[in-house]
Amino acid sequence: MIIGIGTDICNIERIERTLERFGDRFRNRVFTEVEQAKAERRKDTAGTYAKRWAAKEACSKALGTGLRMGIAWKDMAVTNRRSGQPVMHVTGWAADRLAELTPEGHEAVIHVTLTDDHPWAQAVVVIEALPLSDEPSQAPAIRSSDARATP
Ligand SMILES: CC(C)(COP(=O)(O)OP(=O)(O)OC[C@H]1O[C@@H](n2cnc3c(N)ncnc32)[C@H](O)[C@@H]1OP(=O)(O)O)[C@@H](O)C(=O)NCCC(=O)NCCS
Repeated sequence: MIIGIGTDICNIERIERTLERFGDRFRNRVFTEVEQAKAERRKDTAGTYAKRWAAKEACSKALGTGLRMGIAWKDMAVTNRRSGQPVMHVTGWAADRLAELTPEGHEAVIHVTLTDDHPWAQAVVVIEALPLSDEPSQAPAIRSSDARATP
């Protein structure tokens, strides 16, 4: 069953201006090392950051919290599989919120998709709760995608 859905659209030029104005203060506050490494080695640095910014906003909506002052942005982070497919990881407050949302006897899976077409970057996040099997060696309540994703 679907337990959360969120979307966001982000202006790449606004991110570009924020990067110029605030530099590392903005980078380090919002993006993980993995996200920064991906963006900085790409030609479209601002577009790569903008997609990840949109993903964080979309995820906060799917979690039902939306944007709050003092939010720990790095607790929602994107990596990519070898195929390029993005994967959303939640830690800290976002993982706590996901656990609250997840019905008993279920595990949560976060689906994320990103796109950009200058000057816009967009993300959609869907959170699905899957029933846990009765097998003794069942998966943890919140599936970690870390083992399946590469930076
Ligand atoms: C996936 C694909 C359709 C994206 O199309 P596009 O018009 O170039 O780019 P968009 O702006 O719409 O989307 C880009 C985002 O798509 C996502 N994406 C890339 N590969 C993906 C995949 N295999 N599955 C799902 N999403 C994917 C990524 O999130 C990417 O943004 P990011 O790299 O900053 O995370 C295109 O890259 C493609 O056909 N890839 C085929 C697989 C491939 O060539 N893989 C190369 C490594 S094996």
